[in-house]
Amino acid sequence: MKEALQKIAQEAKEALQRCQDMKELDALRVRFLGKKGELTGILKQMGKLSAEERPVMGQLANEVRAEIERELSDRQAALKAQALEKQLRDEKIDVTMEGKAVSLGGKHPLTIVLDEIKEIFMGMGFDVVTGPEVEYVRYNFDGLNVPESHPSRDEQDTFYIRDDIVLRTQTSPVQVRMMEQSKPPIRVIAPGRVYRTDSVDATHSPLFHQVEGLVVDKGVTMADLRGALEAFAKGLYGEDAQIRFRPHHFPFTEPSAEVDVMCFACQGKGCRLCKGEGWIEILGAGMVHPNVLKYCGIDPYEYSGFAFGLGLERIVMRKYGIDDIRLLFENDLRFLRQFSE
Ligand code: DAH
Repeated sequence: MKEALQKIAQEAKEALQRCQDMKELDALRVRFLGKKGELTGILKQMGKLSAEERPVMGQLANEVRAEIERELSDRQAALKAQALEKQLRDEKIDVTMEGKAVSLGGKHPLTIVLDEIKEIFMGMGFDVVTGPEVEYVRYNFDGLNVPESHPSRDEQDTFYIRDDIVLRTQTSPVQVRMMEQSKPPIRVIAPGRVYRTDSVDATHSPLFHQVEGLVVDKGVTMADLRGALEAFAKGLYGEDAQIRFRPHHFPFTEPSAEVDVMCFACQGKGCRLCKGEGWIEILGAGMVHPNVLKYCGIDPYEYSGFAFGLGLERIVMRKYGIDDIRLLFENDLRFLRQFSE
């Protein structure tokens, strides 16, 4: 029995020395010290011993158990330390290592200003809507009270896809679509691309952007138009901004006006930006023509409305002092980077 105990002690020692992970260590614990383990197996035979031998063997067995336990816990501590060291090695971060530069994109100047415009009108309760760029003549011209003979209908000005379909020349057709679709009160702006057969030069592009505005309700007057546009000008150019109306003609409004803002570079004195005028034209506007309301199924005796339309490129160019419209479409990064923070 003594030999068996010594053999267990020896085997346990060797096995523990070889043991490389916690799971194996646990298995060894069960194998040597468990209820059905080797040591217990030997102790069960104690009954067969003589009365003198029993305490001697008992003591030896206890010593062997104590020794295995000590070795187990030593090995466990060693394995834990090893695991920690490995984790530290694997998760090491070199804080002096060079980082990867992240380059953030920026908004295009047209988008920057359009976002501002949307923000201003949404603050006044306008919805932002859109319409198709490939548009029926009936929406682009007929419904807007544009006479058959009007020069803007000419192929020289308008891209025709078919006799009855064009690339919209203005965002105004969205007015007709809105009034056909929904009942007053209507309060919307409609930004988007428009197309005309212009040749490209410093101030012309066959593709440009407009923002349309439309309000229809009972009792809407020119004073409401003026109030809305004044709030818009102050929102875009600052609290000191002033506007003026000049009489004009558009087929779809009556009366019609062109609206100027006092030159923000010279405060009305006259400078290069405003070409000595002191004022800068920013949009066209007016009271929705009764024929347009009628065309859309809205009774002009019950309802009235105002509308306006602005050219986004011109506003952006003046705001940033850009003197060539082509810069807005060429997407040269050296130009665009000037607008990203
Ligand atoms: N559609 C006009 C244009 O392209 C701009 C415009 C003027 C729109 C007056 C309007 C308006 O809604 O009331 O020149």
